[in-house]
Amino acid sequence: MGTMTDSPANGAFGATPFGVYVHWPFCLSKCPYCDFNSHVRHGGIDEARFLRAYEVEIATTAARIGRRTVSSIFFGGGTPSLMQPATTEAILETIARYWSVAPDVEVTLEANPTSVEAERFRGFRAAGVNRVSLGVQSLEDAELKALGRTHTAKEALDAVAIARKSFERYSFDLIYARPGQTPEAWSRELKRAIAEAAEHLSLYQLTIEQDTPYAALAHAGKLVVPDDDTARTLYDLTLETCAAAGLPAYEISNHARPGAECRHNLLYWRYGEYAGIGPGAHGRLIVNGARYATATEKRPESWLMRVEGMGDGLVTDDELLHEQQGDEFLLMGLRLVEGIDPKRYEALSGRSIDLARVAMLAGDGFVELMPNGRLRVTLAGFPVLDAVVADLAA
Ligand SMILES: C[S@@+](CC[C@H](N)C(=O)[O-])C[C@H]1O[C@@H](n2cnc3c(N)ncnc32)[C@H](O)[C@@H]1O
Ligand code: SF4
Repeated sequence: MGTMTDSPANGAFGATPFGVYVHWPFCLSKCPYCDFNSHVRHGGIDEARFLRAYEVEIATTAARIGRRTVSSIFFGGGTPSLMQPATTEAILETIARYWSVAPDVEVTLEANPTSVEAERFRGFRAAGVNRVSLGVQSLEDAELKALGRTHTAKEALDAVAIARKSFERYSFDLIYARPGQTPEAWSRELKRAIAEAAEHLSLYQLTIEQDTPYAALAHAGKLVVPDDDTARTLYDLTLETCAAAGLPAYEISNHARPGAECRHNLLYWRYGEYAGIGPGAHGRLIVNGARYATATEKRPESWLMRVEGMGDGLVTDDELLHEQQGDEFLLMGLRLVEGIDPKRYEALSGRSIDLARVAMLAGDGFVELMPNGRLRVTLAGFPVLDAVVADLAA
């Protein structure tokens, strides 16, 4: 293992990209559709103690992998906008203490668009955050209520306006294919959203995740999501409307003005190297040419105790076989409109893409080999991406 070296560099952003993902696992309330690692702590949390643990985990990771130049940092959650800006700042300072930070580093923070959180935006900007990603979810009050959100559409738009003033870059998320949503209603909502957007929008189809209150409602027949045909119509409408507005899809659910893509997320999809810090964070680390999949303990207090006792919260730390790397590379890379480089697949997996399968999928219009040699899933193939990847992998 580990004989084949791999450079994650295939980005357009200079030196080999390296990202740091920081997970903040707390929310004010739990949304009924969400299965992210997020927890509500009515009694409050000891933020200073958590900060110390984040610092320790960063130090331990840096000692393991050595020097890197950080090209992107992403505070995800949970709701990282609930952190004190001073905590964010201290985490950024710690990252800069152990690694070099690129002068044009992208620092994103996910925020919920409530007034409490928007009030802190200036503090986050001063701390070094230069991009914010807001969970707007819908521009209709009744829909927000049904989604269990604690903000109104007006509050969300006010937060977008503050984000516009506070940060160089911002994006927001909407969830569509909601119960009863018609193409006409979604088209209206999306156009309003585009009018408020700048350079980037994330548009997710509602997924019914197992063991969530939404799953129980769906099981009981009390929540019915659009059928496959309607979902497909909604997806096509999303692609067309965003492209016409100058925000073409660059990934299955992400749309941006060319050049304004989220660099951190591109790093994942291009199968680059990133450290995962905080409870329930995933990482992909390259040590002596071998790639490791890491994951930390999800429960915040257990993670805290592990870090305090052992220096990190790792519960998974597996060297990936070449075959596994190839599969992961396909799974991530084929989400991108730019597709993948089959030669990199060969370098990672030690085998070549099955051209007979590619020809069959291309015949069905699901994938295409581009003149530059890259392989990509077509817009028609995106709705059946999982099946396409499963066909090409293994
Ligand atoms: C982890 S959340 C963090 C953002 C922030 N906590 C919020 O909710 O505004 C990231 C995004 O995932 C999306 N998301 C979460 N659960 C989803 C689901 N079941 N289906 C579709 N999108 C979902 C939402 O759009 C959300 O903004
Ligand atoms: S959707 Fe966002 S705010 Fe809601 S529970 Fe999940 S992470 Fe927290």
